[in-house]
Amino acid sequence: MTATVLVAGGNGYIGSHVVVELAAAGFYPVVIDNLANSNPEATRRVTGIAGRDVPLLVGDVRDGAFLDEVFRAYPIDVVIHLAGLKAVGESVAKPLLYYDVNVGGAVGLFQAMDRHGAKRMVFSSSATVYGDPVTVPITEDFATGATNPYGRTKLMIEEVLSDLVASDPAWQAISLRYFNPVGAHDSALIGEDPNDIPNNLFPFIAQVAVGRREKLSVFGNDYATPDGTGVRDYIHVVDLARAHVRATQALLQGTIAGGAHMPINLGTGNGVSVLEAVHAWRRATNRPIPYEVVARRPGDVAACYANSELAEKLLDWRADFDLDAMCRDHWRWQSRNPQGYGEPG
Ligand code: NAD
Ligand code: UD1
Repeated sequence: MTATVLVAGGNGYIGSHVVVELAAAGFYPVVIDNLANSNPEATRRVTGIAGRDVPLLVGDVRDGAFLDEVFRAYPIDVVIHLAGLKAVGESVAKPLLYYDVNVGGAVGLFQAMDRHGAKRMVFSSSATVYGDPVTVPITEDFATGATNPYGRTKLMIEEVLSDLVASDPAWQAISLRYFNPVGAHDSALIGEDPNDIPNNLFPFIAQVAVGRREKLSVFGNDYATPDGTGVRDYIHVVDLARAHVRATQALLQGTIAGGAHMPINLGTGNGVSVLEAVHAWRRATNRPIPYEVVARRPGDVAACYANSELAEKLLDWRADFDLDAMCRDHWRWQSRNPQGYGEPG
């Protein structure tokens, strides 16, 4: 199926993998990104992997005139919206920035889509919308309730999408609720390149393994989990990216009807503790991965993992890669690119 897919935030970690999989499936991806948290080297490398040119148009999703130019220049069939800010701590310190970029950016993008009659949306949501779940695994009908401004931006955008599709059945929308994306493309050419000290577990362990950091701090070992450390549903970024291809196909084929906004979990369904992740990293790297247990991180939940049956049913998608493959590919990227993409150039 050939169609043109606008990938907002497509120069970032997840977006660059989405673009590779879209191109492999025969779509024409067009990337827009303001480079707030990424390096143009990512799309240059994606072009190499894809074997054909992928346009990277530098601009902001809050800039309506820029978006109008993009929609006039390309016959956009589907939009995948990954652009935004994602650091929980920063969102607490700078809520207005997060509401402006994430909520304002999404509304601006939806308005531009509406103006140009491009009404198929795949939105990057997050398991964070479930807050502290009453039980696990989590299905899409669980109560939502975010615990920080970042999470609230995701919930608000989902609500905007529900209102939008209800107002106009020409709109079709899927919100993909990612659990914990990790890993990298097996070429080791693209991967996650955090600017600062990583907040998330896998990029932090990767920097310990490569010698950039001395040891991992394990945030608490007194949770009600089998070994006391936090349990999460890590999912390989390539599996995640392939789900975006399936979602794009579902919208184009009309499997997801107009007038409906479908939130869909993307996880493996396996809960993995921090210590299990450390052991998997040791296997993948043959390195010691020193750690010390410290206090819990405020806002963390004990356990969060998905029931992903809806993705299987609606998108014919399930995760293929296991924890060892996630560590192996994340490590291959980190060890071959110890400074990530390097300085923007
Ligand atoms: P990322 O920061 O690598 O990618 C986001 C991209 O959006 C970056 O390239 C950035 O430059 C761009 N961007 C930011 N603001 C923009 C703006 N105003 N206009 C245009 N481009 C802008 O992050 P990622 O990990 O690839 O995440 C992608 C999406 O997935 C985000 O919306 C994030 O909230 C969501 N998500 C990520 C995770 C995760 O663990 N990585 C989990 C759940 C949801
Ligand atoms: C975090 C965000 C969440 C976001 C998700 C994916 C917080 C409170 N939550 O969730 O909103 O959607 O990332 O980007 O920031 N851990 C350590 N040491 C570390 C880092 C993490 O022990 O240095 C532990 C955590 O306590 C947790 C697990 O590892 O139990 C995973 O942490 P992380 O990768 O940050 O993901 P989430 O906590 O799921």
